Amino acid sequence: MSSDSGTTEQLRQLAIDHLWQHNRDWESAARDQEPLIFVAGDGIRVTDTDGQTWIDVNGGYSSVNIGYGRTEIAEAAFEQLRQIPYFPQGSANPPTIKLAAKLAELAPGNLNRAFPVSGGSLANETALKVARAYQKRRGHDGRFRMISRRGSYHGATGGVLFLGSVPSSPRTDYEPAPPGMVYAPQPNAYRCELGSESPEECAVRCAQAIEDLIRFHGPETVAAVIAEPVSSGPGAVMPDPIYWTMLRDICTRHGVLLIADEVITGFGRTGKLFAMEHFGIVPDIMTIAKGISSSYLPLGATLATDDVAAEFASAGKHLRHVFTFAGHPASAAAGLKNIELIQSEELVDNAARTGEYLSEKLHELQERHPIIGDVRGIGFMQALDLVADRETRAIYPEEAKLVERINARFKKQRLLIKAHSGHIINLSPPLCTTRDDLDEIVAGISQTLGEVEAELDS
Ligand SMILES: Cc1ncc(COP(=O)(O)O)c(C=O)c1O
Repeated sequence: MSSDSGTTEQLRQLAIDHLWQHNRDWESAARDQEPLIFVAGDGIRVTDTDGQTWIDVNGGYSSVNIGYGRTEIAEAAFEQLRQIPYFPQGSANPPTIKLAAKLAELAPGNLNRAFPVSGGSLANETALKVARAYQKRRGHDGRFRMISRRGSYHGATGGVLFLGSVPSSPRTDYEPAPPGMVYAPQPNAYRCELGSESPEECAVRCAQAIEDLIRFHGPETVAAVIAEPVSSGPGAVMPDPIYWTMLRDICTRHGVLLIADEVITGFGRTGKLFAMEHFGIVPDIMTIAKGISSSYLPLGATLATDDVAAEFASAGKHLRHVFTFAGHPASAAAGLKNIELIQSEELVDNAARTGEYLSEKLHELQERHPIIGDVRGIGFMQALDLVADRETRAIYPEEAKLVERINARFKKQRLLIKAHSGHIINLSPPLCTTRDDLDEIVAGISQTLGEVEAELDS
């Protein structure tokens, strides 16, 4: 099969000559016969330009929550584009208004106001601006610092790039960092940097470390703490619930805003519509993207509580903030239809139930493969943490080329999934994934790990 506009080779050459891909150079892409080019999708499977079917284990960037091929969403967007594709400056449009109201209905607590954007980075940029502006309007002019956790990722744009840190993606090219970035430990019980011996101890120490940082810098200088309820970067880190209870309390006591980044976790991924529901905590600001439209069109939002939003309500106090593509009617129409389908097809429940099955299967895999040091996560957000030695939890040195060995095999099996950061394999499949699908995926991972273990042992 060839695509509409050329054979695979022709398209690939055009990409090598002209396309600047995410996180990729074009010389090694050419050498590896990439990029892969996909032309169709259905559920968790996608078809390439040669007619071969692959399993997209992580559904795009953990973002195609509903799965591929849902023509209802395409039709909702088409119908909106046909009626009116955009909006005159300063006006609103029905789908965006209805989406804002829907988000207020679904989000925990009194997160009743939504600033729509076109993705996760911009949702977090908006959160950062709202947090600082809120503090200033309350008379706290010195509160500019942002506390985030090492290992977390919050986006690629100017401000949020320097929140969190991803060891495999150094930011030295883009320094200097904006002032006020403060880093806290990640509550990862398997690799607790504070030397804790249990998940609860790790959670308590890591939450306490945030309070220590607030005290060290002075509460009068701290605007907000940003954290994902379950952190994807270091591999599906689900903290003991005490962590979020403590964090909420610490932020409230010190007048620091709590921002929950639900860009990955939102819209069902963890087996609840929003992951903060696992902890019963309402943040002051919540950011969402990815699964809100299952990535059918660019969409995200920054949600604020009534208290935070009130600072921007009156004449002259509006948030000075605009993006041309924020509040796009076709994206909102796609988002509304996507949310309707996620709810009517009970996909959040499927993520909870089938996610448990995934966890069981991965634990069985761990029994067979000594390279798996830890299996962790919740719902359809699970991860394997690979080790050279289970006792010490040491990871393989870079020279062992573990990630390259694993990823080459996944590709051969036409499994779209990648090891990253030297030792992590994330699994965050679409919410429609079945037990049979998971059996196939886990069998593929088992085969890959078995071969790599044998190769590294020899
Ligand atoms: C937790 C989290 N926040 C923010 C982002 C940035 O979202 P986007 O790529 O839509 O800008 C991501 C993307 O992977 C993410 O995982």
